[in-house]
Amino acid sequence: MKLADSNENMPDSNRILHHLSDFPALNQKINGHQLVYLDSAASSQPPSCVIDAIAEYERNDHANVHRGVHTLSHRATEVYENSRDKVVSFINAKSRNEIVFTRGTTESINLIAQSFSRSSLKKGDKIIITHLEHHSNIVPWQLVCEQTGAKLEIAAIDETGEVNSQALINMLDDKVKLLAISHVSNALGTINPIEKWISVARDRHIPTLIDGAQAVPHMSVDVQELDCDFYAFSGHKMLGPTGIGILYGKEEHLDKMPPWQGGGDMILEVRFSGTTYNELPYKFEAGTPNISGAVGLGAAISYLQDIGMDRIKTHEKEILAYMTAELKKIDGLRLIGTAKKKASVQSFLLDDIHPHDIGTILDNQGIAIRTGHHCAMPVMEYFNISGTARASLGLYNNKTDIDRLIESIGIAKKIFN
Ligand code: ALA
Repeated sequence: MKLADSNENMPDSNRILHHLSDFPALNQKINGHQLVYLDSAASSQPPSCVIDAIAEYERNDHANVHRGVHTLSHRATEVYENSRDKVVSFINAKSRNEIVFTRGTTESINLIAQSFSRSSLKKGDKIIITHLEHHSNIVPWQLVCEQTGAKLEIAAIDETGEVNSQALINMLDDKVKLLAISHVSNALGTINPIEKWISVARDRHIPTLIDGAQAVPHMSVDVQELDCDFYAFSGHKMLGPTGIGILYGKEEHLDKMPPWQGGGDMILEVRFSGTTYNELPYKFEAGTPNISGAVGLGAAISYLQDIGMDRIKTHEKEILAYMTAELKKIDGLRLIGTAKKKASVQSFLLDDIHPHDIGTILDNQGIAIRTGHHCAMPVMEYFNISGTARASLGLYNNKTDIDRLIESIGIAKKIFN
């Protein structure tokens, strides 16, 4: 991939869009129309270099890691651990011991709930989340609260989809043992002021976990600058494959935490009299890992870094502003989620048409959006709706995609009126 070299003098947006041909799945017709993919918040499309890296590993290097003396096992270990190093540099972790491969954001959060929190929570302790969270940053805390007698408390949102920041800060008392918050809301696109919340929490000795699934693909994230304790994200939302994700954790915490799952690779010695555990990060990687997934994630990181996260952020900001402005012009369309700072997502309702019907009509026109509650039922409950239609962006979207979306919404309106 020679992104930067080949396009040095192009404006940012063109430089990115010049690479549309990198995404094979986007180059197809759906129901007779050129596909417009506006569902990257659910899962992003992988570029050819990711698909090729996985295929190359499976063709030539497939073996188990950390186990064999043979060449293929060495190669598999090398590509797997190389990907870990790429993650270290991508989020600026201090060390590779802080990067644990998981199945995705959900598993990363469950790991923290069941290892970090379950081992230390007592009755009366509190965990704070916001009303904006995805189910994967709600249910693991409900489970651990049931297991320990701790309480889950929720920071309120307003009608724009912003968290009442001062109210959240006021909730951070000495009973709070974790602040677990999304960086960007998957249903509404709100960018939370996590820098401020982390800083207050740190002053009050409260650890922080950030669900970064919807942030990492769209902006540069520096965990040392944020100074959060844990940060979780998924490969498949950042141009990588499904089934692979990351838990970043400060070494001081990971070191003290008990293992979550037991099995191969996470042990030093197993005897019936007792087991000793492997060093970080392997203590948290029980069983044969998703090696090809890690390889694909590594390739996705290289691709994103070649373009540059700041450039991606600028491009997507422009497309989001255009999409929001165009949606606003449609009679009977209600935007859900109008926070001042947003990334890559716009939810909406159209007249009294059910979101699933909008999604189906759009699919007939070759437009892919997500409809429903977006795994954020409390957000829907707040707005007193069952779901929304949601268009979400990736770096490969352009203004023509938005024009097609708007045109197809017009068709949906005509069909229903
Ligand atoms: N969390 C994913 C979404 O927002 C599945 O669509």
